[in-house]
Amino acid sequence: MIPQPTAQQPLLDETFILQADATIGVDDPAAQPIAERFAARLRRSTGFALPMQDGAGTITLSTGGAESLGAEGYELRADTSGVTITAAGAEGLFRGVTTLRQLLPAKAEAGSAQDGPWEIAGTTITDTPRYGYRGVMLDVTRHFFTVDQVKKFIDLVSLYKINRLHLHLSDDQGWRIQVDSWPRLTEYGGSLQVGGGAGGSYTKEDYAELVRYAGERYITVVPEIDTPGHTNAALASYPELNKGDQAPELYTETEVGFSSLTIDKDVTYEFLDDVFREVAEQTPGDVLHLGGDEAHSTPHGEYLTFVSRATELVVKHGKRVMGWHEIADGELPAGTVVQYWGTEDPKAQGLAHKAVEQGATLVLSPANRAYLDMKYHEETPLGLQWAGLVSVEQSYSWNPATLIPNVPASAIDGVEAPLWTETLDDLDKVEFMTFPRLPGIAELGWSPESALDWTAYRDRLAEQGSRWEVLDVNFYRAPEIDWR
Ligand code: ACM
Repeated sequence: MIPQPTAQQPLLDETFILQADATIGVDDPAAQPIAERFAARLRRSTGFALPMQDGAGTITLSTGGAESLGAEGYELRADTSGVTITAAGAEGLFRGVTTLRQLLPAKAEAGSAQDGPWEIAGTTITDTPRYGYRGVMLDVTRHFFTVDQVKKFIDLVSLYKINRLHLHLSDDQGWRIQVDSWPRLTEYGGSLQVGGGAGGSYTKEDYAELVRYAGERYITVVPEIDTPGHTNAALASYPELNKGDQAPELYTETEVGFSSLTIDKDVTYEFLDDVFREVAEQTPGDVLHLGGDEAHSTPHGEYLTFVSRATELVVKHGKRVMGWHEIADGELPAGTVVQYWGTEDPKAQGLAHKAVEQGATLVLSPANRAYLDMKYHEETPLGLQWAGLVSVEQSYSWNPATLIPNVPASAIDGVEAPLWTETLDDLDKVEFMTFPRLPGIAELGWSPESALDWTAYRDRLAEQGSRWEVLDVNFYRAPEIDWR
């Protein structure tokens, strides 16, 4: 199972076998949709009727217990008589159901009826996450991904208890979210993508649907509007955002660091005020990410001015600021989350310290470990390698608590695995880079430090392969793993 639960004991003489007469019981209306979706999945693969029932069933989801495990924690017991998942509320039950899915045979994920038996070895599990932030980022700018593609991605990552989806929504190559007050951002700025093909963007309805779909899986969307660099698509859409009011052409290559908002123009902040307001209005989560990375074309003094002014606008619209670690050189408002994408580089680590000294918390995305777009090995046909080659072992074998020396545990919110899509123009390619590495980052975020062990993880990961085959995931069959 991945992530490894906090505590698991076998019940040696007990085996649960799901039979044709089984029922799904749920005692809380708030958990009804979770139970319904789980039942629908199992009905497809088992061919059983699996009627829903108020209160206890053969498989029971029950709220109002296991309170000490927090909102995401749960207890699970599988024995000869049935399976019970208990949690404080619906969110914990959802996490528990992802565990139950992994306890069932892989064929339980199938879209058509399979032969049983549907057996689970008797067990008790007590589970609660190590970190509250366990994210994945999808870059929908370099290549655009449709709502349906992002939904499949959400489904797959949710199985590993990921609870944040960071969407990188604007960059040099495209602006992907509708902003009513600045319509050319998507109409023109979203029209292309890397390579020069047609891009795309999310309407407000599309975006709301993504937020809703993720939310149903207890995943909060973190929207990123990258500023003041990575802004060519916006600059190309509105001449007034540029020095001298001259709009550049749209850009479909993959260099970074050449674009910048104009720091000393009032219109820049009128623009950001509108964009942040409209994006914040569509964001139930408490965080809005303003990028801040690789602003190589923004003079440093101006960059610091920009950080103060832009972060103020995020706060004005009721959100906490999130930004890449470069923003820590500026003055950060209370509640800021700084996303560390450095490696062992002392300059980046210094900025992480500067963030913590200002009271910010950290989300860890070390590029040489957590970046899903790095090649696995020299011959990987996709991806980049500026942060090195990132094998499955390399991506798993690090400790968030000690990655950056002298950072207190209380300053670490969690981990995130970013996926940049310069080289990824369809979902198959996204899956190839994401699996099998994402589950390892998810485990670093969820499982207790004492459970982290490459050799044992490797065996557990091998079992996921058959599940991905059933789920039609184009995963990389890394030779490091003895796929079953
Ligand atoms: C980044 O990789 N530029 C955050």
